[in-house]
Amino acid sequence: MCGIVGYVGPKSTVDVLIGGLRRLEYRGYDSAGVSVVANGHLETRKKAGKLGNLESEITNHPLPIAHIGIGHTRWATHGAPTDQNAHPHLGGPTSKLSLIHNGIIENFAELKAEAIAHGAKFASETDSEVAAHLIAIEYERNGDLIESFSTVVNRLHGAFTILVVHEDQPDVVLAARRNAPLVVGLGDGENFLGSDVAAFVEHTKRAISVGQDEIVILRTDGVELRHFDGTPATHEEFTVDWDASAASKGGWSSFMAKEIADQPQAVADTLMGRLDSDGLITLPELFEDFPVADMKSIDRIIIVACGTASYAGDVTKYAIEKWARVPVQVELSHEFRYRSPIVTPNTLVVAISQSGETMDTLMAIRYARELGAKVLAICNTQGATLARESNATIYTHAGPEVAVASTKALTAQITAGYLLALTLGSARGALTTAEAARLGKELLKLPAKVQDVLATAKQAEELGTKMAGAKSVLFLGRNVGYPIAMEGALKLKEIAYIHAEGFAAGELKHGPIALIEEGQPVIVIVPSPDDEDSLHPKVISNIQEIRARGAKVIAIAQEGDKTVADYAEHVLYVPQSDPIMAAVLDVIPLQGFALALATALGLDVDQPRNLAKSVTVE
Ligand code: F6R
Repeated sequence: MCGIVGYVGPKSTVDVLIGGLRRLEYRGYDSAGVSVVANGHLETRKKAGKLGNLESEITNHPLPIAHIGIGHTRWATHGAPTDQNAHPHLGGPTSKLSLIHNGIIENFAELKAEAIAHGAKFASETDSEVAAHLIAIEYERNGDLIESFSTVVNRLHGAFTILVVHEDQPDVVLAARRNAPLVVGLGDGENFLGSDVAAFVEHTKRAISVGQDEIVILRTDGVELRHFDGTPATHEEFTVDWDASAASKGGWSSFMAKEIADQPQAVADTLMGRLDSDGLITLPELFEDFPVADMKSIDRIIIVACGTASYAGDVTKYAIEKWARVPVQVELSHEFRYRSPIVTPNTLVVAISQSGETMDTLMAIRYARELGAKVLAICNTQGATLARESNATIYTHAGPEVAVASTKALTAQITAGYLLALTLGSARGALTTAEAARLGKELLKLPAKVQDVLATAKQAEELGTKMAGAKSVLFLGRNVGYPIAMEGALKLKEIAYIHAEGFAAGELKHGPIALIEEGQPVIVIVPSPDDEDSLHPKVISNIQEIRARGAKVIAIAQEGDKTVADYAEHVLYVPQSDPIMAAVLDVIPLQGFALALATALGLDVDQPRNLAKSVTVE
């Protein structure tokens, strides 16, 4: 997972690297480090713990003014999070080469034996250090840094983005990418490398996404890309549409609080330009790659995703099956990849990912494509591997999501899922133009409704604060309320470290009701009573069953629900909406609840323990 940044140019390199690492810290925060080359010398500072520790180290032992350097923030795989295991790692007997790595080098044991046989002395327990030594050994032999770098990266197995600087070559940063993300930022007389565009978006919005098995030679006056076999590689430049200020806290107590508040905008931006005022969809990025004829021939959709994104997938399934009448199954990417799924040329695989770099999801889509399926991505990050490797992409425009716990990316993913469902429904004739327009107009009302939910979020926060002593919280829902219940539980586990589980309310009496005892808090998503197929009476019955056994019920219900208050200790009301679209509204109080509860416990809500935002290892 790890975040990497590289810079060459006239600015203060330390400031550029630390600024980039701050924006990438969500990728891992076990340790951080930087190397710069100044006045013909390589200087390195690294420290276990969060970026703040590295900043203090640099204050105590300042680095010289430099115009080239690399920086790393780590999520530990091989070796504990210590100062020694922090990147960069130095290579060669005189330690003139510095290397950072994101990923896992699978054949490191045999390569390490080889490096030791050549006299290398290892200072860390990481798999990464071996690459630093091997490149240095090769360079001593042939005197050509690019050649040496290329020879070694060709010998590495596994997943890696590697960046290298060398004291003898103070004008170049070398990078290589296989199965781990790497983006180039193109400046004026300066150039950047980053795990994603957040690393450099405050300096430039011009970017190139580096392809699989490619090497980058980065200098102030130009960027050269080569395939691992040495042949030239070219990629189109793209413009990053993220606003740099969106990746800063802007006065909020945490990124998570800010990102929850960003949701009206995230939903609005995801809809922008894709629905006209009559509620009809224009999704050119989809139609270009999937002509209507192709949409008609799809006989099954498999949605692959992990974690929160998989809950967006579950909601999308309900929308597609209801509006487009195509069978949909939702699979955790890692489960899909390692069984024998049935995929035919008429299967559409939809991959949902905020980062677009989740390795489990990338492996799933590569496999799906091998099996002959077309892949459509729903992705938040421009230039991400997922978008590059899919047949078409619907971008969610949630902006950079920095807090590890996903909030605005989820509501934007669900919104994109609705757009996809309506598109398919219209193309396949499952929806009449009038029905599609009615639903499209409902969709256009969502950003204002999300804003209204936020206005009443205070109550959810108060409840969260009051419940800081809870040992366990259960969540129940039916239909789209079911994945939202699971998401509510995930948020609580992730940031408050409290046992929480989400259940389908109908499943309760098949086992989980045994968990209910006096005082057990249960949050129930209650659907609207007004919908003609409403599950409202069934959910009210489920509430009665658990209350009879001592549960303390908090209901999330729609405004105008006159009965729910008789059955729950607390009711949090959200605006009325289409039953499928209610998912986007119901989840917001759950996010606020988890945030308040974790804050009351004094926890770091943006960087919860053991986690990293982008899971780039399987
Ligand atoms: C939970 C969370 C994770 C991610 C999951 C997939 O709050 O953030 O469960 O949703 O790791 O990440 P992406 O969407 O980047 O593929």
